[in-house]
Amino acid sequence: MRQVVTTKNGGVEVLRVEEKPDPQPGAAEVLVDVRASGLNFADILARQGLYPDGPKKPCVMGYEVAGVIASVGEGVDPNIVGTEVVAMTRFGGQSEKVVVLEKQLFEKPASLSFEQAAAVPVNYLTAYALLVVMGGLRKSESVLIHNAGGGVGLAALDIAKHIGATTYGTASPGKHEFLRERGLDHPIDYRNQDWLPALKDLTSGRGVELVIDPIGGAHWKKSYAALRHTGRLGMFGVSAASANGLAGKAKMLKAALQMPRFHPLALLNKNRGVFALNLGHMWHEPEKVEEWVEAIMRGIEEGWIKPHVDKTFPFAQAGDAHTYMESRKNFGKVVLVP
Ligand SMILES: NC(=O)c1ccc[n+]([C@@H]2O[C@H](COP(=O)([O-])OP(=O)(O)OC[C@H]3O[C@@H](n4cnc5c(N)ncnc54)[C@H](OP(=O)(O)O)[C@@H]3O)[C@@H](O)[C@H]2O)c1
Repeated sequence: MRQVVTTKNGGVEVLRVEEKPDPQPGAAEVLVDVRASGLNFADILARQGLYPDGPKKPCVMGYEVAGVIASVGEGVDPNIVGTEVVAMTRFGGQSEKVVVLEKQLFEKPASLSFEQAAAVPVNYLTAYALLVVMGGLRKSESVLIHNAGGGVGLAALDIAKHIGATTYGTASPGKHEFLRERGLDHPIDYRNQDWLPALKDLTSGRGVELVIDPIGGAHWKKSYAALRHTGRLGMFGVSAASANGLAGKAKMLKAALQMPRFHPLALLNKNRGVFALNLGHMWHEPEKVEEWVEAIMRGIEEGWIKPHVDKTFPFAQAGDAHTYMESRKNFGKVVLVP
């Protein structure tokens, strides 16, 4: 089978497609023939050597796949061979075949293509945890979604629209028309202007009840300043550090040094909350994640969760897929296919 291997830290040239022996499922496991594999910003940060959760290199990245069950290990019902499924993978998903625990699978909704199904787990679970579970977003409230045109951003928009909240979103200006069509109430250009005064103008100076911020560093301070009373800030990424080589390390250090400190008394006096999410640190809480998956599956069935795949790249062009995301061209999800 073929895999996309990140051979070492570096630019896209370190990505290589390599042949490996097919894996075999063990007890309680299944072998999935992968038809589509999600690309996430974490894969880029890992390639750049900026993702502490990533496996040791050389490694195969990939947190999510959609495919067909090819065989099963001991203790698994063989009648499920041939079922179309979606799986979370703790890395290794950018492979033609993956072995996963049966309990890590869920059935692929028939209404979705394999590519769309591979766009669901990371983006929608992250957005659901941020908006619903930890952010507690309500219909009468407003939310600012940073990078609203990206994978997590579009997922968050679907969920916020379903809740009925008022939505604000920062994105590169070329994505604004598309975002309006997806239901974003107020797109904000954050590339050519300071987004905070623009948001304050739009909210009569008040700000919003929830901000979800994957940019990190000093940006979290600014997002905190965008909260009105009872507002919550959800921090979940450090895109600000993205760069190759020493530049990336310097940006990560700068982001770490510029991160805000939140004093309990300041939170108390302003009626504010702060929280953070790392979906990759939820593997030991499968019951919680299962409940989130069920809610997302219901959303797909009811039609308000609409995974948007912008572009599909074959494994051999994984480098182009990384470049596409790094150069901010993606509208929603980028998917790799074997
Ligand atoms: N903590 C978690 O559990 C978790 C889970 C999933 C994702 N994340 C984080 O969430 C963020 C979004 O992830 P994603 O996979 O959905 O990716 P994504 O948003 O699709 O990423 C690409 C987009 O991010 C925006 N962006 C902002 N700063 C950027 C930079 N320095 N370089 C390139 N693009 C930048 C660009 O859009 P615009 O210019 O239009 O804004 C770009 O199109 C990432 O920071 C990721 O690490 C965290």
